[in-house]
Amino acid sequence: MTGALRIEGVAAEALARRFGTPLFVYSQAAILARLRRLRGGFSRPGTMVCYALKANPNRAVCGVLRQAGAGAEVVSGGELARALAAGFAPGKVVFTGVGKTGEEMALGLRQGILSFNVESGEELEALERTARRLRRRARICLRLNPDVRARTHPHVTTGRAENKFGVEESEALALAKKSRRSRWLDFQGLHCHIGSQIYELAPFQRAAAAVARALRKLEAAGLRISLIDMGGGIGVSYAGEKEIDPDELGKTMSRTFSPWPAARLLVEPGRYLSADCGTLLTAVLYRKRTSKRRFVIVDAAMNDFARPALYGAFHPILPARFRGGPCRRTDVVGPICESGDFLARQRPLQRLEQGDILALRMAGAYGFAMSSQYNSRPRAAEVLVEGRKARLVRRRETLSDIVRLEMP
Ligand code: LLP
Repeated sequence: MTGALRIEGVAAEALARRFGTPLFVYSQAAILARLRRLRGGFSRPGTMVCYALKANPNRAVCGVLRQAGAGAEVVSGGELARALAAGFAPGKVVFTGVGKTGEEMALGLRQGILSFNVESGEELEALERTARRLRRRARICLRLNPDVRARTHPHVTTGRAENKFGVEESEALALAKKSRRSRWLDFQGLHCHIGSQIYELAPFQRAAAAVARALRKLEAAGLRISLIDMGGGIGVSYAGEKEIDPDELGKTMSRTFSPWPAARLLVEPGRYLSADCGTLLTAVLYRKRTSKRRFVIVDAAMNDFARPALYGAFHPILPARFRGGPCRRTDVVGPICESGDFLARQRPLQRLEQGDILALRMAGAYGFAMSSQYNSRPRAAEVLVEGRKARLVRRRETLSDIVRLEMP
């Protein structure tokens, strides 16, 4: 096979030439296709898709989702600021996280966000104090830790009793009752997020069942339920894995939560919406061989894209120009001074030349978002493609950006 890789209507090589490499390229059509697919599955009236900004907080990416009617899920004051800058209405923003500071709470309260997903008794007290001081009522959900096992990487599982997230059912009941005694706390319902990159329906079903069980107890205690937030976590296919069918997931949730027809159902996908839209373009710098391996050294590294180094994650890599010919097992590595700095290992790739462009696929989620300046490397630029148009949505950092915040 020969030919050139395109992102929507634009040749990948042309993008690399125009904007330089390493370069994150996002396809608007791919983001919207994912949103449509997910929404199609969640036909329960009033369901809101709250995009988890942590996956890719770029303002242009957020803007595409906001314009299409999505809400936002944030986990820091910074993400809240970015959500607001991208134009999300505060009434469509929920705020999760085990360590919200008083300052972050105050920002959310002043803006009047839809809900704080509270993760501990001490956090609830702190939120109450801040709300009282500002004379703003805090809408809250309690984050339930359902002690459900989801088969995924141990670093991204969150719904087990040994994880730091949420509270167990008995504590959720106690905190909900306690919240009723404060005029500054407005209890809405429950939140639950069991982990990320999940391919099976069963853990979501078990988590939903645990939430429903707790909701029944809350109702029996006289609390009104207006929000049910089932978090994110839907896995995407990086290496041909089978993805969960959003129709099945939506149906399961609708069935489980049918006793609460007036409650608003929220889901918080990050990866599902943004992984597929993103491609990291990188140029081949050098080639070399040892007696054991064939290496291609590219200009993107683990500081630009950490998932392979951090989780051993597999991402498809393809040449922007296919020449055909035999494929050879190749390690694609970056310039950083650690052997953990690789994008792909032992990958069958066509013969590559210096200057060739490689495309690392499924790089839109937890890609740029987790990038750093490690080895004092300026962060990559980001581009959004819509049809035949490409526009820079974050400029490449420069060497002066590297030293800008330092004091003599
Ligand atoms: N909601 C909450 C409360 C979360 O903690 C997360 C992700 C999400 C929603 C979105 O999850 P998603 O739909 O994207 O799976 N850096 C890791 C992923 C960490 C996920 C953390 N929490 C990775 O690159 O695989």
